[in-house]
Amino acid sequence: MIRAFDALSLPLLRWLDPEDAHRLAIHGLRWLPPVRPRPDDPKLAVRAFGLNFPNPVGMAAGFDKSAEVPDALLRPGFGFVEVGSVTPKPQAGNPRPRLFRLERDDTVINRMGFNNDGAEAALRRLASRAHLGGIVGVNIGANKDSPDRIADYVGLIETFAPVASYFTVNVSSPNTPGLRNLQQASALDDLLTKVIDARERVRQNAGESPVLLKIAPDLSLNELDDVVQIARSRRVDGMIVGNTTIARPSTLRDSSRAGEAGGLSGRPLFRLSTRMVAETYVRAEGAFPLIGVGGIDSGGAALTKIRAGATLIQLYSSLIYKGLGLVDDIKRDLASTLLRTGRNSLDEIVGADAATITAEDWPV
Ligand code: FNR
Repeated sequence: MIRAFDALSLPLLRWLDPEDAHRLAIHGLRWLPPVRPRPDDPKLAVRAFGLNFPNPVGMAAGFDKSAEVPDALLRPGFGFVEVGSVTPKPQAGNPRPRLFRLERDDTVINRMGFNNDGAEAALRRLASRAHLGGIVGVNIGANKDSPDRIADYVGLIETFAPVASYFTVNVSSPNTPGLRNLQQASALDDLLTKVIDARERVRQNAGESPVLLKIAPDLSLNELDDVVQIARSRRVDGMIVGNTTIARPSTLRDSSRAGEAGGLSGRPLFRLSTRMVAETYVRAEGAFPLIGVGGIDSGGAALTKIRAGATLIQLYSSLIYKGLGLVDDIKRDLASTLLRTGRNSLDEIVGADAATITAEDWPV
């Protein structure tokens, strides 16, 4: 069914303007029959942040910004789906065009700017599907015109705690001016203190809500030292490494579009983001698990990300080029690697290559 959906939709979607294609994909997903995904190989199960993931492959934030289709996304076999980024108030985002495909590079550049329907609409949708289960994380961000950005995050924790399997505090989108400054030590410490306080306040009524921090792959290693130390001291439950990059790798072939402002994702982000996973892993010293995201487009790439230090992985851009069948392909490759190497779980290889990767030359 998913392969047929890919075969029909991919050629059509690539022919359309990228943002129209995205809207059409969301509508198309709604028409997928509500069949349950095939059960996963038990060896792919992962326990992290107090949650039981049926498999480690997740849908990254940014595709379903307003929580319109989380269940349709769970159907192709994702182990979890992250909706958002959601902001308190609805927001139109930047003027179009703001999403660009660099076909020859398997890359996307976006400067969407947190376009989303706002917290009220997303909450209504998530509340109406809560009985269906599945792991659905809520990625939260601040409104562009907010007078108090930290208050935005705190309010969103309070609002979504009853329906969020976990939260992602997104301080790493490059398309809201100044947002990435929240990664600086004193601002981050203030933000995480208040966010974790809010989580504790609502715990009695809303239950457990793990809080993850999503960072930019563009942090310097000195900045990463601070970020990980603060995340550890404020006891966040995990980190997502990472968001899109504002860098433009020298390997890009589509030079006409490479100059578009915004965050770059897809295959050319793989080496930098994997290096940052390994750098974060060695600094975290097992204090919390990581989700690795950036340029994963095959089972081999997923495995490399896990060996760099990722307990779970997420994808977005590669789905645009390869379709949703990629989710099954990655899971099949991970399961056969476990079988071939006589291992019982992916846990046994998380971070196995972190030390080697951090000793390599810096990726350019
Ligand atoms: C994103 N991403 C993103 N991340 C986030 O935390 N909040 C968001 O709203 C968005 N929005 C968004 C829109 C578009 C069009 C893209 C392509 C990406 C970033 C995404 O979750 C992921 O971190 C990066 O895209 C890197 O992964 P891939 O795409 O290389 O697999």
